[in-house]
Parts: sequence; C-alpha cells; structure tokens
Amino acid sequence: MKQLTEGGPAVRISEHIYWVGAVDWALRDFHGYATERGSTYNAYLVTGEKTALVDTVKAPFLGEMLARIESVMPLEQVDYLISNHAEMDHSGALPQAISLMKPEKVIASTTGVSALRDHFHLDQEITPVKDLETLSLGDLTLTFVEARMLHWPESMFTYVAEDKVLLPNDAFGMHLASSERFADELPEWVLDYEARKYFANILLPLSPLITKALEKVRGLNLPIDIIAPSHGPIWRDPAAILTRYAAWAAGAKVRRAVIVYDTMWGSTAKMALALAQGLTEGGVSVKVMPLKETHRSDIAFELLDAAALLVGSPTLNNTILPRVGDILTYVRGLKPRNLVGAAFGSYGWSGESPKQVAEALTAMKVELVGDPLTAKYVPEAEALQHCAALGRQVAERIKERVGEA
Ligand code: FEO
Repeated sequence: MKQLTEGGPAVRISEHIYWVGAVDWALRDFHGYATERGSTYNAYLVTGEKTALVDTVKAPFLGEMLARIESVMPLEQVDYLISNHAEMDHSGALPQAISLMKPEKVIASTTGVSALRDHFHLDQEITPVKDLETLSLGDLTLTFVEARMLHWPESMFTYVAEDKVLLPNDAFGMHLASSERFADELPEWVLDYEARKYFANILLPLSPLITKALEKVRGLNLPIDIIAPSHGPIWRDPAAILTRYAAWAAGAKVRRAVIVYDTMWGSTAKMALALAQGLTEGGVSVKVMPLKETHRSDIAFELLDAAALLVGSPTLNNTILPRVGDILTYVRGLKPRNLVGAAFGSYGWSGESPKQVAEALTAMKVELVGDPLTAKYVPEAEALQHCAALGRQVAERIKERVGEA
C-alpha cells in the first residue's frame, strides 16, 4: 500500500518543479483581514542536477512540507534553500529546514539577509543575491528578480528559465485553501473574488509598485508559462492574473458608492439609507455596509473599484464610535486612490463626529462633496431630504469623474 503523506504528496507543477507547500484550512484572520476560505503556504522544490527549495511554510506546517519533500527525495539531497520573502508565513519553517537539510547555501536578497537575521538570529551564513543574479543548478538556471515592497522591502521573485516558471511569492496570490493546486481547476467566480479580496486588503497600497513590477517583468522578456505564487492556486494561464493586476493597480473606478456607518439608536442608519436613495436616484449603484454586521476586509474589497466612500458616525463622548475608528484606520493604511466622499451622523448635543470623519477622509485624500451632514437626535423628513440631496450631489461628482463606466 502506498504510504500516506500528511495532507498528500508533492504535486508536480512543471518538468522540474514540485509544489511542497501546506494547506491551512483553518486560517480565518490574517492581520485583521478575514480569510474566510483559509489559505496555503506554497513552497516549491526545483529539481535539477542540484536541488533548491524556494521558500518554506508557516512554522506549524513544517511537518506537512517535509513529508511532501520526502515524497520526492530525501531531505539531505536539498542543496539550496532560497527565501524570496522573510515574512513568517513563508520563512517560519526555515530555521528547522536548515537544521534538517544542512544545505550548501541559504540564499536571500541583500535586504532579505538582514531581515532573516533579525527574525531568526541564525548562526547559518545567508548568501545575498543581487537583482538579476543567477544560480546554476547544473542543468537549470534560477534568476532572482528584486521585487521591493511586494510585499516587503526584501521581497524577490525567482524565475526558472528552463521550465518558464515564475515564483513570485506574495504577488499574484490569494488566500484560498483548496484541494486543487491550479487556478484552472477552480470556479472562476471564486478565483475572481479571492484574488480581488487579497489585492484590496494587502496589495492596494503598493499599487504604483505593482505597475512598475509588471513593467519590469514585461521588460525582461522572460517567457512565462506558469506563475506559481506562495498563496493560493498556481496560474497555468499567466495572463488571467496579470491582466487583473494591471487593472486593479491602475485604480480603475466604476459608478458605485460605498456607505459605511455605525449607529446607536438608528438615526445615522436612517441618514445612510436616505443618502443611498439619493445616490440611486442620481444613477449610481450603492453598497450600504453597516459596521456592526460587516467585516472591514469586505469594505476594502468593495472599495477596490468603487468611486465613493461615505462614512457616518453618531457622536459618543465627543468623538466617533469605535467601529468607525477601526474602519477609518484600516482604510487609511490601504491608501485608496481616486475617491470622492461625504461625512454624516446624528447627534444629541455636541455633535463632533461628522467633522472628525470629514477630517479623516480628507487626510486620506478623499475629495469631499458638501459639508459634513448632521441631524439632531432623530432625523425627520427635512433632514432626510438633505441627506438624499447630498447623495444626488455625490452621484453627480462620481459621474463627472468616472463617466459611463
Ligand atoms: Fe505571505 Fe508577506 O507574506
């Protein structure tokens, strides 16, 4: 009987390369991003006359990775360990892998060397490689491509020329646990949703660098048949993900507004619905996202191509509600571009919140339409008409900026 490997054996992805990563079915949070379908940590074994392991896995998944490598060859036959990225979801198992495999060399980008040293304080020497430096595996050549800030300053891609495979670590990935290893084996709508969510929650602030990285890879004229990222499925049709990334990184917007709000006794909720009505009357699609019931990473998902962000908060103790603070902090870090917006909220006596929301939106370069809108205690018809009117104004500004998109 065939011996069982923890989670299944290695999966061959090209003539010389095996997937030897791990599937994390249970992951539901990644730095505040809700990963509702889990994730994978993809490591790749490149088997030429010499063998290189490109990236490892999160520390608790060491056993799963080792079992997969051993389904191909004994651990001591791995000659090189290559770290494309020092973040611990890819390097957590590196120290133990070094102890067990005793590789000839451990390789990282020049900045990766110090990042690994600062993480693991290893005695092991780590060999730095420069942009476009190569490593021969005898019959195979690996090329290292500097990819600063994708996702950290030390990130790099590894390209395997003979198999035409790009191993770009975090870039072109998604958080998706699956039994399938290839994107073309998964439903298109799942891929689109999870790739978008990953881009919106992790890569959005790096959009200008992604555009540059795409130009750099294009300029190198590397034939690429397979893009094998370190999270989620492997792309046998590279254009499927490259086209998406180019559009998302360019920041293209559609005629859609996102309204987020929190509410104490339902008054700010009434204002949100009146704003939504005005936006709809103005010919704009609206997504209303009450903060009590909505995860922040779903709001980031919607903002990827929405043209407007309207934020509402009543006033509590002279300031905004905590959940509104959470989303404003989260969105500010994602550096969304090309947004118009508005601030609103009900109040009882002091009423500072809408102004504070407006200041936060302005700080993230959202173009505000109208003054912050307030309603005392419970808005009656006139106050709601003001909300609808502001919604129509925002809709007009969206149409001026986005056109018919
Ligand atoms: Fe998947 Fe930046 O780590």
